[in-house]
Amino acid sequence: MTTTIDTLTARAAVHAGSGQEMTLHQVEVAVPGPGQVRVRLRASGVCGSDRHVLDGDWTLPSPTIMGHEGAGVVESVGPGVTELQAGDHVVLTWFYPCLSCSACREGRSWVCTGSRSEECLLPDGTTPLSMDGQAVYPYLAVGSMAEYAVVPVQAAVRIPADVPFDVAALIGCSVATGVGAVVNDAEVKPGRSAVVIGSGGVGLCIVMGLRLAGAEPIIAVDVNDASLELAQGFGATHAINSSGRTTEDVAREIKELTDGGADYAFEAIGRVETIQQMPPFLTRGGTAVVVGLPPQDRPVALDLLAFAENGQRLLGSNYGSTVPARDFPLLARLYRSGRLPIDQLITRRRPLDEVNEAFEDMRAGARGRTVVLHE
Ligand code: APR
Ligand code: ZN
Repeated sequence: MTTTIDTLTARAAVHAGSGQEMTLHQVEVAVPGPGQVRVRLRASGVCGSDRHVLDGDWTLPSPTIMGHEGAGVVESVGPGVTELQAGDHVVLTWFYPCLSCSACREGRSWVCTGSRSEECLLPDGTTPLSMDGQAVYPYLAVGSMAEYAVVPVQAAVRIPADVPFDVAALIGCSVATGVGAVVNDAEVKPGRSAVVIGSGGVGLCIVMGLRLAGAEPIIAVDVNDASLELAQGFGATHAINSSGRTTEDVAREIKELTDGGADYAFEAIGRVETIQQMPPFLTRGGTAVVVGLPPQDRPVALDLLAFAENGQRLLGSNYGSTVPARDFPLLARLYRSGRLPIDQLITRRRPLDEVNEAFEDMRAGARGRTVVLHE
């Protein structure tokens, strides 16, 4: 028996350029090509990176379908796909590996040089979405704020069907990014001290990762008391509200809590000012990890003489150096066993019609993560 797969239409949140609100449109979704799968999305996280795009911090092909933190069910598969079948529950990755560059061949797919995710394109250079005959670009080749996505099969990772879709969506970005920064990039050992600057969706995942790794103490720094309270629920042993305080003042408090400075500092906001705070918070030999992504073309000033003299390390952490096929099922397992309480990150759920309001929540400083649910 052969089944025919047709093009579909899907409701999608389309962003036409910086400063503009997203508008809902019906877009055409192509038939999955060779090596591709079409996914019926069920949930999309509302992430700080989407906000960077909406605010014009980074330039992208336009019009864009927002959302890169998504989960759903495989609806159909293209020719040659054997790894997945219709009905599988999947988490999407926003950095699909090309599988053929030297980094991918060495098993270091997080530094793949052949992926076209950042161009919002499929491996063959096309986009599977269009609107009135015009190409539309799914953000990071995901576009999870639409009812359907077409992605290369290696961008969709099967997870157990009993993991709720909202939790699964967060595994696809904030959880992988935050836990991966701790476990894969910094490789934090038990008993080491850590500071996390920013307790938003990503910062809270870093706190969760630090608890998993056995860090002690875990100090959360934020300007919002409600976010700090949430951080303590995820394992922060101390909370510092840095609002209106100088870096030196906060550094003094951290030094008292950590015996002279933290072994690790993680920045999870993406602000030049807070990235510059990391070295003063560290002990000699400490490691600063840049997780938050600053606007493009905004250089950061660091005292590299002090940095070198103190034997400190600076790590750039992109997507927690995640290997999706390895890490997404592992993170789902840690959620199911209660070791990663990802569900507690979700403080609000909204339908797609309220996508602009979801970003307003974020700009207004809402704590935790909002998830958009597709009916
Ligand atoms: N000092 C300390 N905390 C701050 C400051 C500041 N100057 N400014 C903002 N914050 C806090 C906010 O109160 C909030 O709790 O930082 C947090 C930011 O969280 P979100 O807006 O939820 O952002 P998130 O989704 O976590 O993303 C953070 O990571 O992946 C990147 O692109 C993403 O750059 C973004 C960053
Ligand atoms: Zn993200």
